Amino acid sequence: MNNPIDNHLNKIISQKGDLLFSDFMDIALYHDQYGYYNKQNSIFGAKGDFITAPIASSFFGESISNEFINLSSEIKNASILELGGGDASLAISLLKRLEEEDSLPVTYIIIETSKQLKTLQKNNIKKLIPNLAHLVKWQKDLSEKSFEGLIIANEFFDALPSERFKYSSEGLKMSYVSSIDHQLSEIWKEPTEEFKNEFVLATDNMDIKFSENYISELNLHYSTWVNKINKALERGICIITDYGYNNKEYFLEDRTEGTLVCIYNHKANFDPLYKIGEQDISTFVNFSHLSKISENIDMDVCGYLTQYNFLINLGILNIFENKKFDDKEKHIELNRLKNILLPNAMGELFKVLILKKNINSQLLSTKEFNHLHKL
Ligand SMILES: C[S@@+](CC[C@H](N)C(=O)[O-])C[C@H]1O[C@@H](n2cnc3c(N)ncnc32)[C@H](O)[C@@H]1O
Repeated sequence: MNNPIDNHLNKIISQKGDLLFSDFMDIALYHDQYGYYNKQNSIFGAKGDFITAPIASSFFGESISNEFINLSSEIKNASILELGGGDASLAISLLKRLEEEDSLPVTYIIIETSKQLKTLQKNNIKKLIPNLAHLVKWQKDLSEKSFEGLIIANEFFDALPSERFKYSSEGLKMSYVSSIDHQLSEIWKEPTEEFKNEFVLATDNMDIKFSENYISELNLHYSTWVNKINKALERGICIITDYGYNNKEYFLEDRTEGTLVCIYNHKANFDPLYKIGEQDISTFVNFSHLSKISENIDMDVCGYLTQYNFLINLGILNIFENKKFDDKEKHIELNRLKNILLPNAMGELFKVLILKKNINSQLLSTKEFNHLHKL
């Protein structure tokens, strides 16, 4: 017997035909009733499926607060806008520290699509920073109003529904989800014009030799979101942190099955049709692709660093050293810090892309170890 989300997908496919992989992923993750991000169980933390940097350690958000303070010297009434708020850990750590530093933003906007996560964010903010809750506002999407300040997207772009492609002697094909005798399966069909154009942009000037039946991903939502950020941002910076690679590493010869990864109960698998609606599905971020899109518009791509280098530039070690902990707390906090900094944890796999617009200040986060040439 199929479960409700399988039945829903089978019904759509029987009515409208095979689903583009990204449309399948959108339903699997974000359907109001059955999508993973709207399910009732916990998603984040030890009891959930995965942990992100702001949840792993409050020093992630506290460090980013230093860049906001730096930016505020040029933009007097700066705000913060976060794409995809998770459990609100980033908002809470940022606002707490900015209050201590007497540098609160005018508003803190969270763009969140999941109703369930919006409720979780509201509850956590009310519980943990009740005196600052009035600063936080929610929006379903970016508005085209002039925003001034800091936009931050942590593990947002990996969660956007992606396309998959297969390269073979028969040419480029795109992944669709089909239904045969009520069983969902992945099939490969001719690419759309939009996909072909984006593929050319993403792989332009690259000497890539795809082996026969090479599978990888290309995300058409990158363009939508970078353009929305560009329209919304009048003056300020956008920090994008995520696990991912530059083009060369993304389309590595040996990475023949792509970067798509599913997580269920802290265990990874590579089958998006397994436990649909109950497991997370994401793809590694192609930072070269994001950078090419940004260069084509008014955004100035000004930083590309590992998460380790980014946090070191922001003074994470000083923040840690200046905290007053007892021995037990220090041990716990140090382990959390290691989780976001060390190369074998999140320190190197996670990268940071920084975009700026109409800003003259020297950014703290890009002052050293900036590897823009690698994009
Ligand atoms: C992997 S989680 C990361 C959460 C948080 N940034 C963190 O680091 O803990 C992805 C977040 O992006 C949100 N999201 C995904 N697509 C979205 C969209 N189109 N609009 C707004 N939020 C979205 C999800 O609901 C979720 O809050």
